[in-house]
Amino acid sequence: MLKGNLKPSVKSGGTYGPTRGRFISFEGGEGAGKSTQVRILSERLAALGFKTLLTREPGGSPLGEKIRRFLLEGKVKNYGAVAEALLFYTARLDHLEKLILPNLKAGAWVICDRFADSSRAYQGAASGVDDGIFDALDRIVVGDNQPELTIIIDLPVEVAMKRVMSRQLTEGGEVDRFESEDLRFHEKLRAGFLKIAAANSNRCIIIDGNQSREKVAELVWQTVAERFGLEHVV
Ligand code: TYD
Repeated sequence: MLKGNLKPSVKSGGTYGPTRGRFISFEGGEGAGKSTQVRILSERLAALGFKTLLTREPGGSPLGEKIRRFLLEGKVKNYGAVAEALLFYTARLDHLEKLILPNLKAGAWVICDRFADSSRAYQGAASGVDDGIFDALDRIVVGDNQPELTIIIDLPVEVAMKRVMSRQLTEGGEVDRFESEDLRFHEKLRAGFLKIAAANSNRCIIIDGNQSREKVAELVWQTVAERFGLEHVV
């Protein structure tokens, strides 16, 4: 639960406890192919015998999934981007406490489809919420529990929009709250992710998403293997 003294409400320390799991997030705009890549990576790690948790934001925990529906149906849009940001972080707090941290403490590899960088890019860079708000929310909710590695899949906006539209045609379904934003929004979003990567070069790596999914998967694997010393097991 959120503490009144604004200290991080989840245990911090950056080591994730005695058995030390690994925390990897994937980020990027719409249509970047993240969901495919998180699945491929977690299957590959699991096949090597690692305990793996694949999760997503918003969502992951029961409260997070409820908030996800609320946000993606656009029910909070009229209250503005700050209200949306606060709800994304409420979902994140629950997700960290109930799922991510217990799994990290149990030694799992936690692969998360979006995390706090998405708030800074979607509600911040693309929707105008001030960076200082995210600094404060990160301090309160995330503390030292940022991912060790963040893979940002970058895609030109026109390519991304074409993919979203063709997915719509083949799979059907509603266009969600953020997919329906205009081109300018998606340009600002892309620039936001690139700025986050530049400001956090130790944690973030950009992979060009405008190539085959096999090639992207191989680059993801090389990045993970190199970062965590897995070259010997591949
Ligand atoms: P999702 O269907 O998971 O999209 P994607 O497949 O692109 O990841 O929907 C999540 C949406 O929520 C996506 O449009 C990004 C947005 N989002 C934010 O705006 N802020 C956040 O903090 C997070 C985690 C997601």
